[in-house]
Amino acid sequence: MQTINVALIGQGFMGRSHSNAWGQVARFFKPPIRPIMHTVYGQPEENPPAFAANWGWLHSSTNWEEVVRSPEIGLVDVVTPNHMHAPVAKAALAAGKPVCCEKPLAGTLDDARSMVEAAKAAGVKTFVWFNYRRCPAVALAHQLVKQGVLGEIRHVRAAYLQDWASEAVPLLWRFDRSLAGSGAHGDLNAHIIDMTRFVTGSEITEVVGAIAETFIKRRKLPTGPAGETLGAGRAGEEYGDVTVDDTVLFLARFANGAVASFEAARQATGNQNRNMFEINGTKGALKFDFERMNELQIYDATLPRAVQGWTTIMCTHAPDHPYVANWWPDAHIIGYEHGFVNQAYDILKVLAGEEPTVPIPDFEDAYQTQRVLEAALISAAERRPVSLSEVK
Ligand SMILES: NC(=O)c1ccc[n+]([C@@H]2O[C@H](COP(=O)([O-])OP(=O)(O)OC[C@H]3O[C@@H](n4cnc5c(N)ncnc54)[C@H](O)[C@@H]3O)[C@@H](O)[C@H]2O)c1
Repeated sequence: MQTINVALIGQGFMGRSHSNAWGQVARFFKPPIRPIMHTVYGQPEENPPAFAANWGWLHSSTNWEEVVRSPEIGLVDVVTPNHMHAPVAKAALAAGKPVCCEKPLAGTLDDARSMVEAAKAAGVKTFVWFNYRRCPAVALAHQLVKQGVLGEIRHVRAAYLQDWASEAVPLLWRFDRSLAGSGAHGDLNAHIIDMTRFVTGSEITEVVGAIAETFIKRRKLPTGPAGETLGAGRAGEEYGDVTVDDTVLFLARFANGAVASFEAARQATGNQNRNMFEINGTKGALKFDFERMNELQIYDATLPRAVQGWTTIMCTHAPDHPYVANWWPDAHIIGYEHGFVNQAYDILKVLAGEEPTVPIPDFEDAYQTQRVLEAALISAAERRPVSLSEVK
């Protein structure tokens, strides 16, 4: 069987979730190309050899430039903070390697555009880990809308609400604009912009208005490496400025005529990972909430009024629900990490020239999401509507 040597650049939260995905994909799926977990890069204080041993990487390195250029590497997977997506991805593309990169595509629109250009120049495949597309319930929503089940879409209501960013959390890279680009916006709105573009099959044409707020303007500096979102307990005594938003809300229009609202927040107390959308069409409606990720709610407005009502679909039935046939029997539910394994499978299919299970975003596609992020930031700063035609 054909194989491909994968290099993983970064070993934090996503480093673990991608390591799991590359390790599991050929056990649960039959990908046309088998990934070999060749090299993981980490910073020296992260102990890359121990990470490699734990997750099954053959080699580790503290020099990402050497890794992405190595002739032994066939695919580069980027799981660094956002400011490093462009330098790492562009170095890999310049070496002729296909790249899969975490979301958002980059911290800034300029970086994102340069990545799209580098991908075009390299002429190789690229992928962005908008993993929620690969929850069976979200993939099913995409398929149902495509089949016309909702009729004409009128309303899109999306929110991604978390509550981890209390004052106890130190100034992680996620609170630093030079490293992250933006706060909850690029982190969370990126996902729901991508997911609603994916499910509706339509593009956002205008951000009508936006509001951004930073509630906690100074945070204690971390005492050591403070990865992931928690980091509480690692706060020192010195303070630094928070330079990103805690929340961004915006209203938008889709090309299909629908109006939409988006909300991203890190201090939405009571919501740990409430990544949700509700879509109302003329013939029906859909609701998804990641906190109940195996379920999709559907409302069929074509039934007699007397029997209309919300139905909960348990999206665990093979072969009717995407990806499920490769996991467990009915209602033996899957979790967060499975979306990444599903995506690893589709990446390997596309690399082999096959169609993915459902569409997978490349750099060009993720750039469209980045333009919407940018339009909302302009709208919030200048307090005005922003047409996407303004954001090149
Ligand atoms: N798809 C998702 O649902 C999802 C979830 C969380 C994070 N992310 C994205 O994944 C990326 C990484 O986030 P994370 O939560 O894993 O972060 P993290 O802080 O846990 O890990 C980042 C890793 O990047 C490496 N790194 C840090 N600074 C670096 C530098 N200057 N140069 C090179 N490497 C460096 C380190 O190995 C570190 O462990 C971000 O772009 C984030 O937006 C995506």
